[in-house]
Amino acid sequence: MTIHIGAEPGDIAETVLLPGDPYRAKWAAEHFLSDVRQINAVRGMLGFTGLWRGHCVTIHGSGMGMPSLSIYVNELIRDFGAQTLIRIGSCGAMQPQVGLRDVILAMTATTLGSPSSAIFREVNFAPCADWSLLRAAADAAAAKGVPTHVGGIYSSDTFYDERPDLNEQMVRHGILGVEMEAAELYTLAARYGRRALAVLTVSDHLGTGEALHAQHRERSFSDMVDIALHAAFP
Ligand code: ADE
Repeated sequence: MTIHIGAEPGDIAETVLLPGDPYRAKWAAEHFLSDVRQINAVRGMLGFTGLWRGHCVTIHGSGMGMPSLSIYVNELIRDFGAQTLIRIGSCGAMQPQVGLRDVILAMTATTLGSPSSAIFREVNFAPCADWSLLRAAADAAAAKGVPTHVGGIYSSDTFYDERPDLNEQMVRHGILGVEMEAAELYTLAARYGRRALAVLTVSDHLGTGEALHAQHRERSFSDMVDIALHAAFP
């Protein structure tokens, strides 16, 4: 057991999928895994371990934002030996060619700062995805026929951002979308020599103001889980 994960050693698989929402972890485990057991509920952050096509997989909530994700990913890596960590979540699109429900595979994650920033001092570290996961996820998305974009995203600390000029600079520099967790996930994976990827579906568009209705989110989420599992076990 760790401070935030009430699991026993061996309860957590080497491959971990990380939705922000703990109830999404429950939904994904129930719909995609067999032999599922709940391995965490501390502070309501649900985690489940089960089998996908014979492979052991854990699906665990990360919470919203980099400070929350950092807690769970540090413990998953350092205390439970997680090797492959794939964020499955939503993002806001920042480019006109990116539509609602499209998938974004985050090759890099730009950030103003993350819980890891302090250790880099004046260096702007470039958090990036694991290439083997990124390539396998792109192949899986293409095989499913899901409209997919591969490129840089922006990991923000502020959902209700009062700095439109910052978003403008992201758009100007080709950033595909904004979310709130991937940069810290990629940085921790780099630090501990693990593999990480963020597979995101577009839930809203910053340019047009459109947003996905609740009933469409489940289908998009299901595509993401499927792509993430195929990326982990190509
Ligand atoms: N996640 C989904 N949409 C988002 C947005 N517009 N900003 C930050 N995170 C998001």
